[in-house]
Amino acid sequence: MTRETWTAVDVYVSELLAPHDEALAAALESSEEAGLPPIQISPPQGKLLYLLVKLLGAASILEFGTLGGYSTIWLARALPEGGNLITIEADPRNGEVAGRNIARAGLDGVVDLRLGPALDLLPRLAAEGVGPFDLTFIDADKVHSPEYFTWALERSHPGSLIVCDNVVRDGALIDLSNEDPAIQAQRRLHEMIAAEPRVEATTIQTVGVKGHDGFNIARVA
Ligand code: DHB
Ligand code: MG
Repeated sequence: MTRETWTAVDVYVSELLAPHDEALAAALESSEEAGLPPIQISPPQGKLLYLLVKLLGAASILEFGTLGGYSTIWLARALPEGGNLITIEADPRNGEVAGRNIARAGLDGVVDLRLGPALDLLPRLAAEGVGPFDLTFIDADKVHSPEYFTWALERSHPGSLIVCDNVVRDGALIDLSNEDPAIQAQRRLHEMIAAEPRVEATTIQTVGVKGHDGFNIARVA
């Protein structure tokens, strides 16, 4: 199979099973107009996150990496009445676009958008006593995925789920000669999770419009 085929299948699945309504379409359009990089999760991945929230009955969500709010909308829409989602975005320009997209989706009462580098914001969030979170989605700067995972794990409960995007990166995950810190962080993340008795986890490779990558899914025991 080629990337062309993965993409065509993703388009087929998206149209049938993860179609955009106005808010999702507008979120992508405005992100593109504002010049944000088109690196948001794919529609089938968005639908997977939505299904995970529903399967868990998750009422509190933490997201690292808002970008233009596309994944945020998928996640927040699956919340029950009274649910909440905290999303962290380092880039103020992304945050501005995301804020508008979240409001347009009617989710500004549900989503708490925090602007700033996550490593700066986390101590503040801890002081506020946020959490525990039923589900955490980690999709921000890849170098710090292990640190975000550790933080989320400390604010989880038995049954919580932690999902990390971009853990395979075209197979670079297993290329030991790759010195890219973002790739080395994915290996560190896997080794950390393997040694962590508090979670059961797996990595599922993904192919589609975003090429070849993967999600790590960890359940807190
Ligand atoms: C990049 C980031 C992502 O979260 C993603 O899913 C794909 C690519 C990037 O920074 O290149
Ligand atoms: Mg990603």
